Amino acid sequence: MIEEIFSCSVIGVNGLIVSVEVDISKGLPSFSLVGLPDAAVKESKDRVFSAIKNNGFKYPMKRITINLAPADVKKEGPSYDLPIAMGILTSSEEIKPVVDLRKTVFIGELSLNGDTRPVKGILPMIIESREKNFKAAVVPWDNAREASLVEGITIYPVKKLSDAIEHVCDINPIEPYVNDLDELLNQQQNFDLDFSDVRGQLQVKRSFEIAAAGYHNIIMIGPPGSGKTMLARRLPSILPSLTPSEALESTKIYSISGLLKGKPLITDRPFRSPHHTISKISLIGGGRIPKPGEVSLAHLGVLFLDEMPEFQKSALEVLRQPMEDKFVNISRVNATMTFPASFLLVSSINPCPCGYYGDSSHNCQCSTTQIKNYLNKISGPLLDRIDIHVEVKKAEYEDLNKSAKEESSISIKKRVEEARQLQLSRYKNQNLTFNSQLSVKQIDEFCPMDKEAKSMLKSAFDTMNLSARAYHKVIKLSRTIADLDKSELIRGIHLGEAVQYRSLDRKYWEIF
Ligand SMILES: Nc1ncnc2c1ncn2[C@@H]1O[C@H](COP(=O)(O)OP(=O)(O)OP(=O)(O)O)[C@@H](O)[C@H]1O
Ligand SMILES: [Mg+2]
Repeated sequence: MIEEIFSCSVIGVNGLIVSVEVDISKGLPSFSLVGLPDAAVKESKDRVFSAIKNNGFKYPMKRITINLAPADVKKEGPSYDLPIAMGILTSSEEIKPVVDLRKTVFIGELSLNGDTRPVKGILPMIIESREKNFKAAVVPWDNAREASLVEGITIYPVKKLSDAIEHVCDINPIEPYVNDLDELLNQQQNFDLDFSDVRGQLQVKRSFEIAAAGYHNIIMIGPPGSGKTMLARRLPSILPSLTPSEALESTKIYSISGLLKGKPLITDRPFRSPHHTISKISLIGGGRIPKPGEVSLAHLGVLFLDEMPEFQKSALEVLRQPMEDKFVNISRVNATMTFPASFLLVSSINPCPCGYYGDSSHNCQCSTTQIKNYLNKISGPLLDRIDIHVEVKKAEYEDLNKSAKEESSISIKKRVEEARQLQLSRYKNQNLTFNSQLSVKQIDEFCPMDKEAKSMLKSAFDTMNLSARAYHKVIKLSRTIADLDKSELIRGIHLGEAVQYRSLDRKYWEIF
């Protein structure tokens, strides 16, 4: 008898329904598994055999053929153990399920004694199952919290194979696992690092507020010890909170990477700060079985590249494509996978190898060629993609020593959230959520300017020799500055401030 059980796999960040067809016929005992299984799937045979026996059921000593369809997609990992075991037992009529198997997906690895083990990527699998109108999912106990974030599909957690069997045969039905996404989102962490720790530096803090409000990339340039790393590490404390759908989107990436570490949901925007020795593949994603890289792990969050010129130039250059497109395509023989990569880039750089070029209190020891070579590690096209260029000067004694309290992150975040709400309502019928994502066409529609702003923009374009990209970035930045000022119209003062954040490339890069 042929039995069909449904399961799910992950391609990129999306799930794909897999049908597990089991045929048991007379003949010498054998087990063949077809449908592009990888080594871990092939090993199912031994795990399933032991799990069935050790849970007190009879393994059919017959000819067993299993087909995983669609056959042209490579099947990876051990998550098909549970559906294969269910298929074998049903097909051999060892068990007689009463629930509708055509409306249920089974996902899970089995140990030799029949216990279930969690699998990677459960969230995209359950989302896909719901999309394809499955009503229930039987999943390993340790995956239940994550799986139950998806509304509209019932999650039955099982600790061992026999739990799943007793459930489908209505001998011992399992209670569905319920989770409340909104409640989980409200359990956001308290940040240890607060902007009130940073003394003075008002202008730099203001630029971080703008970056957070409109999701603009930012580069800091300044001497050693001026607080660049300190400032960047405090950015997560003022970022706008994740919406429920953003939280799920971010969790999907951590789910397939196996990086959730017991947490059911990513509740805060990710902050990734890879070391400068990182390889191109770890940064962008890839590998034999393609995995998301740092740019995708930073999706909807922050990618912090501290000491940017220390990174391999080739690694920095591969960032250009995801910074523009907000996704990464990875091609393999069997498939092309797309990983989302919409991140806020924060980077820091010293002005020269010794760190003191342009600093009035120290003599710079570097030659012109050394400075030029150092700064040129950040190429023109990469710099052009960064909206905010800000100089971080050494902190003043008076600032460090003053007793008055600095503004807290909570109070800055309040303004950021207000600007974010303005953007969400303005763009509710568009395919974007932040000003930095405006397309050229949308700029015309959503960035009305007064006369003064228009004439300032024209003179900035002429005198600063802006590229077309930089020109559009200045407008998008002024949109955010106007939003922070709660003004629908972009005024001269907003545009003036935006232009000022593009002046450092000329101060440092263009004179050499
Ligand atoms: N504005 C400030 N307020 C309070 N402390 C500060 C400030 N600026 C710097 N510091 C102190 O200086 C230390 C060094 O700062 P940080 O590491 O951020 O400098 P940096 O600019 O990243 O330097 P480098 O270029 O060497 O990496 C901080 O840990 C902090 O103790
Ligand atoms: Mg530093």
